[in-house]
Amino acid sequence: MRYRPRRLRRNQAIRAMVRENHLRPEDLIQPFFVKEGETGARAVPSMPGVLQLPLERIVEEGRRARDAGLGGVILFGIPAEKDAEGTQAWHAEGVIQQAVARLKEAVPDLYVIVDACFCEYTDHGHCGILREDGVVDNDLTLDNLRRAVVSYAEAGADMVAPSGMMDGMVDAIRAALDGNGYHELPVMAYTAKYSSAYYGPFRDAAESAPSKGDRRGYQMDPANGREALRELELDEAEGADVVMVKPGLAFMDVVLRLRQSTELPVAVYNVSGEYSMIKAAAERGWIDERAVVLETLTGFKRAGADLILTYHALDAAGWLREEA
Ligand code: PBG
Ligand code: ZN
Repeated sequence: MRYRPRRLRRNQAIRAMVRENHLRPEDLIQPFFVKEGETGARAVPSMPGVLQLPLERIVEEGRRARDAGLGGVILFGIPAEKDAEGTQAWHAEGVIQQAVARLKEAVPDLYVIVDACFCEYTDHGHCGILREDGVVDNDLTLDNLRRAVVSYAEAGADMVAPSGMMDGMVDAIRAALDGNGYHELPVMAYTAKYSSAYYGPFRDAAESAPSKGDRRGYQMDPANGREALRELELDEAEGADVVMVKPGLAFMDVVLRLRQSTELPVAVYNVSGEYSMIKAAAERGWIDERAVVLETLTGFKRAGADLILTYHALDAAGWLREEA
């Protein structure tokens, strides 16, 4: 045999030298759920290790994220009051606006991303304004999205990430931000966000399950790959700064296709159901949590992701530090 691939696998030193992809704490973004009107943190039963945080805890958690060297955090708000339009999303003293202000004041070097959507804020749990016929009104929802992102910018957010899959949402946000002087605030678009059963635990954590119907009228059909490239073209044309694929594991091919089709940074969202599957199997002693998490996250890098949004971020950063 002239070629023996095992020559380059013989020991740790050579394996490290020929390793193609590297996972770093700064690639990772930790999601936080901030709940208004609470005094203590509350565990989310379907997401072991994840908490609904009261405002009073956000700075402490933000410091942990900063000290772990994470790329940043992404915030989801759970308001005390919900209504048909989700008006608390753009309330100047809303839970997210307060959380961002506290974080930027106490931990200014922490990068704070705000997820911009309405499902946590509406009493029906859909990602926008519902018409009489139960369909989310795209263009009316864009008007509220403009208000919401400007209020996040005013609170001091470093980046906004619209996740509602409304048509034209990146364009609407870019225009609203620019029109208010926030030319330098980037937009991370949930470009290929699929309608997925893997979001189940998130909807417990964010209290955002739709009371009727589902999200298939706005989120993508998991059977579609080419459509993600069409969404990519639109988001690029509308001025997205980062494009995202969500969920991750069942959509690795989509991550790769976006990577090969754009020069923009690509993010992947390792969603709640993916997290909870690993946690559940690890709790039973069926898999090695640390090894499976690092393998999974490295797999996202190999598929072409630059940024990884994951509930494992803090744990993974700690493990990476131990390995270094
Ligand atoms: C809401 C939103 C969802 C997630 C992020 N933003 C869920 C949904 O569309 O119902 C999912 C995140 C996860 O499952 O971890 N727009
Ligand atoms: Zn939503």
